[in-house]
Amino acid sequence: MFETLSPAQPDKILALIGLFRDDPRPGKLDLGVGVYKDENGRTPVLGAVREAEERLLSEQDTKSYVGPAGDLMFNAAMVRLLFGSQADTSRIRACQAPGGSGALRIVLQLLRLARPAAAIWIPDPSWPNHAALVEAVGAELRSYPYFDPATGEVSFGAMIDAVKSARPGDVVLLQGCCHNPIGADLDPSQWSEVADLIVERGLFPFVDIAYQGFGDGLDADALGLRLIASRAPELAVAASCSKNFGVYRDRVGAAIIVSRTATEADNAIGQLLSVTRSMYSMPPDHGAAAVRIVLDDARLRSGWETELEGMRRRMVRLRQGFVEALQRQSNTSRFDFLARQRGMFSRIGATPEQVERLRMEHAVYLVGDGRINVAGLPETRLDEVAKAVVSVLDGFGC
Ligand code: LMR
Repeated sequence: MFETLSPAQPDKILALIGLFRDDPRPGKLDLGVGVYKDENGRTPVLGAVREAEERLLSEQDTKSYVGPAGDLMFNAAMVRLLFGSQADTSRIRACQAPGGSGALRIVLQLLRLARPAAAIWIPDPSWPNHAALVEAVGAELRSYPYFDPATGEVSFGAMIDAVKSARPGDVVLLQGCCHNPIGADLDPSQWSEVADLIVERGLFPFVDIAYQGFGDGLDADALGLRLIASRAPELAVAASCSKNFGVYRDRVGAAIIVSRTATEADNAIGQLLSVTRSMYSMPPDHGAAAVRIVLDDARLRSGWETELEGMRRRMVRLRQGFVEALQRQSNTSRFDFLARQRGMFSRIGATPEQVERLRMEHAVYLVGDGRINVAGLPETRLDEVAKAVVSVLDGFGC
């Protein structure tokens, strides 16, 4: 059987985890995989989540199945978090998913079922798994230009031109906030223009939101999604709790469908649950139950919001500090765009060879496309990292 298989190409982001772990150098620095880190370099269990888990442990009296859509109160809480507490939910249906990737995969499968000929348009660049997920369901993969490396801004004109060339019924995948790997997001007027274009051309918007609260705040980060939802008759959302609740390994996410009518929404979620039944039957419960407890308890929720805001502010501060260190080390302002961007990721403009040199000569780990995880920067070593980056990018020896 397996003699027919050739070795798999390792996932470039996940491969870094092993490389970093096996590196014996004491000062090694992981700016690769996208997990938040605190000032001690740890990815903490949030206090609110820990308390919710303790409550679960003492109060949960069965491990029996929860049901195909997972925890219904978690689903409702996620809809409120994403769409706002005043949102009209009559045409919105949600189901719990195993992480953001799980949500993306099941929604893509549903879209393929609903409209097999639809192409899926993703940003270029995007999180590498987006393309892999689209290919996994056998849909046509297209991309729209998203980023201008010369300015560090979104290449909005080129994006609009590409989206205009999509066929009616095609799916446009948009990252809701804190774009991975670029860190540059649409501003409100650009979101508005995209929303109008989507409606005018009969396109289907699919919003992937994995970093709500990491950019400008919980509500500000959902602005694009809410704007699209207020104008487009139908859409889908893949949401992840990995980052904003720090529950990476528990695989907590939600897949959300908004349809033209309540009946269509019921049909869509029913078909989505048939998809999940044949994939993994039911989603894992523990992490979602903890997130639900946090979201539904006023004290825990306010504690979580404070912790999340602390993480967000730390990343903004690190961006600013790193820009200043890069200014000192390069005597230029060419990295200033990093402070205008948001979330964990930005590209520093390094080639794969320069990324390799940073790893080999400085024990600084980046993703091969030059993406850094800002949250991994230690505040006390900003000049040291900036010096390594500038020396490698400007072609100096070690
Ligand atoms: C990342 O982009 O590093 C994270 O989303 C982790 C992953 O699964 O790739």
